Amino acid sequence: MEKRNLKQQDPEIAELVEAELQRRKFGLEMIPSENHTSPAVLEALGSILTDKYSEGYPGKRYYAGNEFIDKVENLARDRAKKAFGVPYVNVQPYSGSPANFAVYLATLTPGDPVMGLNLPDGGHLTHGWKANISGTLYKRVPYFVKEDGYLDLEEIRQIALQHKPKLIWVGATAYVREFPFKEFGAIADEVGAYLVADIAHIAGLVIAGAHKSPVPFAHIITTTTHKTLRGPRGALIMVTEKGLKKDPELAEKIDKAVFPSGVQGGPHNHQTAAIAVALKEAMTPEFAEYGKQIVKNAQVLAESLKAEGLQLVSGGTDNHMLLVDLTPFGRGTGVFVQDALDQAGITINKNTIPKDPSSPFYPSGIRIGTPAITTRGMKEKEMKIIGKWIAEVIFEVKHYQLPETKEERIKYIKQFKKEIAVNPKLKEVKGKVAELCKDFPLPY
Ligand SMILES: Cc1ncc(COP(=O)(O)O)c(C=O)c1O
Repeated sequence: MEKRNLKQQDPEIAELVEAELQRRKFGLEMIPSENHTSPAVLEALGSILTDKYSEGYPGKRYYAGNEFIDKVENLARDRAKKAFGVPYVNVQPYSGSPANFAVYLATLTPGDPVMGLNLPDGGHLTHGWKANISGTLYKRVPYFVKEDGYLDLEEIRQIALQHKPKLIWVGATAYVREFPFKEFGAIADEVGAYLVADIAHIAGLVIAGAHKSPVPFAHIITTTTHKTLRGPRGALIMVTEKGLKKDPELAEKIDKAVFPSGVQGGPHNHQTAAIAVALKEAMTPEFAEYGKQIVKNAQVLAESLKAEGLQLVSGGTDNHMLLVDLTPFGRGTGVFVQDALDQAGITINKNTIPKDPSSPFYPSGIRIGTPAITTRGMKEKEMKIIGKWIAEVIFEVKHYQLPETKEERIKYIKQFKKEIAVNPKLKEVKGKVAELCKDFPLPY
């Protein structure tokens, strides 16, 4: 086979990769679940390790030729154990959703009751949402946040006592306050449930010491590796000492649930190597600084948005994300703000807010995060400026209102998109965003 690089081999894809790079270079990536990885992580991810089949685990593979792959996987495991302070880790899950599914397979039988945060309240699909297999294969018992945005611990305990779940999830995809792991641990122990902490969003903050660790309180911990942890797409499943005490065979059950009895086949070795690199990076003093700066930045951004007159769920944040409540501008208006900000070079996502008067597809809020822009070196000064720009864009499109019927909505949104494409205010903000970005290069 001729040696040809991507540009020579497939100019169409090469051009699209380049276009995406340019989009990022001159825009602000503020979706809380995204980040910019290091060149070292990317190099491992793009390495020749992708070619190898290694079904099984180090020392117990189905295929030959895994001498070096075993070393890669062992390094990833050892680094994860050290970074989080746990006795056991499986580093093979392809992503967060299969990791969570493996936890179900390892611990429950279909029909068992499972408690998780309701999706519109910030929970993840895999925590028992009705449209996900976790909510159909198992008995779904949702819990909620209060009007003020905080988890309703008293109600959560009552629900647990009533439904006696076999497994309780603590973790979320849109929750801005610190997770009360200790209190959840006590509730799970009271009803004899497994407590599974899904720290997908906050894993990097936990390693950096910028968020409390769930390790003393949970039996199992899952996380993605591509959010605040700043690694490649992937996931980890960890078992704590508390988990091994509850079931000494829990680690073997998790391994089996990932492979061979679960949803996965051969591990993605290039991904495992890149996870190992990210974990090494995450255990440095620079990363501890980075994690703390993410939170500081989110808090300054929160203050800046409030100073402009915007309303935040729970009034602020303890972590890397903010939820802006857009109901003062009308219900279901997240879609307009998301697209308008995108037009202005600021990428965020529309999101439900607690007690959302609209729907997950047309939610009444937006979710904003600081991990990626903090990776670029932005600090408090930039957050104050960005907060002003976000507010300017929101006020610019505040008169757009979501029509009642599906047909009307399609027409209205089409017209809205035409109008924002030529809106001078959005163009002006986009120019300022691009100017700012020039001083904060991407890491690759
Ligand atoms: C809390 C939580 N768990 C799990 C996942 C699923 O991860 P993935 O998208 O990698 O399947 C996410 C993704 O957003 C998440 O926020």
